[in-house]
Amino acid sequence: MAEEIKKERKKRSLSLIQPTSVPTLGNYLGAMRGWKDFQDDFDTVFGIADLHSITVRQDPQKLRTQTTQLYALLMATGLDPDKSILFIQSHVPQHSQLAWILNCYTQFGELNRMTQFKDKSQQHADNVNAGLFTYPSLMAADILLYQADVVPVGVDQKQHLEITRDIAERFNGIYGNVFTIPEPYITKTAAKVMSLADPTRKMSKSDPNPKGTVYLTDEPNVIMKKFKSCVYILDPPETIIKKFKSAVTDSEAQVAYREGKDGINNLMTIYSCVTGKSYEQIESEFAGKGYGDFKTAVGEAVVAELEPVQKRYNEFMKDKAYLKEKWTQGADLAQRVSQRTLDKVMKKVGFVLK
Ligand code: TYM
Repeated sequence: MAEEIKKERKKRSLSLIQPTSVPTLGNYLGAMRGWKDFQDDFDTVFGIADLHSITVRQDPQKLRTQTTQLYALLMATGLDPDKSILFIQSHVPQHSQLAWILNCYTQFGELNRMTQFKDKSQQHADNVNAGLFTYPSLMAADILLYQADVVPVGVDQKQHLEITRDIAERFNGIYGNVFTIPEPYITKTAAKVMSLADPTRKMSKSDPNPKGTVYLTDEPNVIMKKFKSCVYILDPPETIIKKFKSAVTDSEAQVAYREGKDGINNLMTIYSCVTGKSYEQIESEFAGKGYGDFKTAVGEAVVAELEPVQKRYNEFMKDKAYLKEKWTQGADLAQRVSQRTLDKVMKKVGFVLK
């Protein structure tokens, strides 16, 4: 018994994803796909970052739909709300409370250096709001509230992890060991899945070219409508294959991972990620074959990977009451864990507790 009590707590892994637009193959391969594996060895927390999503103007009805869809999709990828805390950020007010406090321990200059802020304020020049600027302190709150040890993310979130560590170290430096300093965990194979249309740019939910992105769900969105083309709930296999067939490559006709071959490198990354084959194996598999064969093979491998997820997703979406029950359970658990950290922080900074 004493042994049991002494047993060290499992390390905690945490990650969140925004419910903006529809998740892409980049989100899936770079982050979501690997999350379920953490459930065996870690104490796991996963969430939908809806508070973050309103830093860019959202259509309220769409945001609600996308959040529900994303919750179902996370479960479809294998996240089990009875094994992990699986919650929606806005259901847990502790995030906003800690974010405010952390804002007061974050420097203007630090926030001003964030590349995501620079990119997004250019993309949304008509709405450069304070939330967009202080986005990283909310993200730091997400992570630090749960004393997360590991944060699995794609490489684009690395800078946000670094600022989180800086904020935590600064706070700990003043008040003692309040926060666990989190480590980023960046998937090696698919840290950055690039657009199929412009392989020098990240595959992104906000990519104006729908051909560049493989969506995991099909909610026809503004971008799609603008381009008069629709992607249906869970990009159907034909659409996926079609997108891969029209992926931008080069004129060399040689499947090889090399500098300057951005399109082929990206396709090889995706293929390697879903089949588990190394770049060398892929090169010999397609030696002497044209890009057409290779693109079709990548498309088919992606379809094979996504089809079971899509099937489970459709099942979950049929039972909204069950989804609601699970996110309510997630919110209760998340509040319980995060309140412990918040109490500690409030005491340290000098607030009077209830
Ligand atoms: P978001 O919603 O943009 O993306 C969710 C996850 O997907 C990864 N990702 C990619 N990986 C590889 N290739 C791509 N093309 C690609 N596009 C996206 C992202 O790196 C991320 O891991 N700020 C975060 C959400 C967030 C968060 C957190 C994450 C809020 N609080 C706390 C971790 C911990 C974001 O906007 O991710």
